[in-house]
Amino acid sequence: MKPFEVTTSFEVYDSLEELPQAIQHLMKKAIVARDKAYAPYSQFKVGAAMALNNNEIICGSNQENASYPSGLCAERTAIYYAGASFPEAIIQNIAISAKSMRHKVEAPVPPCGACRQALVEYEVKQGAEIAVYFMGERGQVMKANSIKDLLPLIFDNSVL
Ligand code: THU
Repeated sequence: MKPFEVTTSFEVYDSLEELPQAIQHLMKKAIVARDKAYAPYSQFKVGAAMALNNNEIICGSNQENASYPSGLCAERTAIYYAGASFPEAIIQNIAISAKSMRHKVEAPVPPCGACRQALVEYEVKQGAEIAVYFMGERGQVMKANSIKDLLPLIFDNSVL
């Protein structure tokens, strides 16, 4: 046996105002999208906004269902919309904001595991890293430079 270590690193910003204007703008789009979430079961609203290299911004929010597993997270709603609408475009940055209708969410909320897997597919497809900025309702913002920093040891098409 020999150990195999994986290290990833993130950037932490104390507030949105510390980030470049373009990212602040993208996060504001994510917040607007978040507030349009359909989340009657969890009362937990998530918004995602994706900046493409063709200057489009694609937004999504979580869409829940009475049959719980049929719902979809904000990040996948947005990335599938981006992939379906602009299959040739490069996704450059993703901003995510989450808000609970029950309590204050002040810590950054990262994408769930299933969304990480869905997102990394597009990073591999486009051959360019996607930066992810994520936050709660307010407070700190975390940045991952690549989906791979959120999902080390990815499963991708190289093994198929
Ligand atoms: N949710 C997202 O939209 N994105 C995530 O990455 C985590 C979870 C949604 C799914 C569900 O509608 C609600 O948040 C509670 O899990």
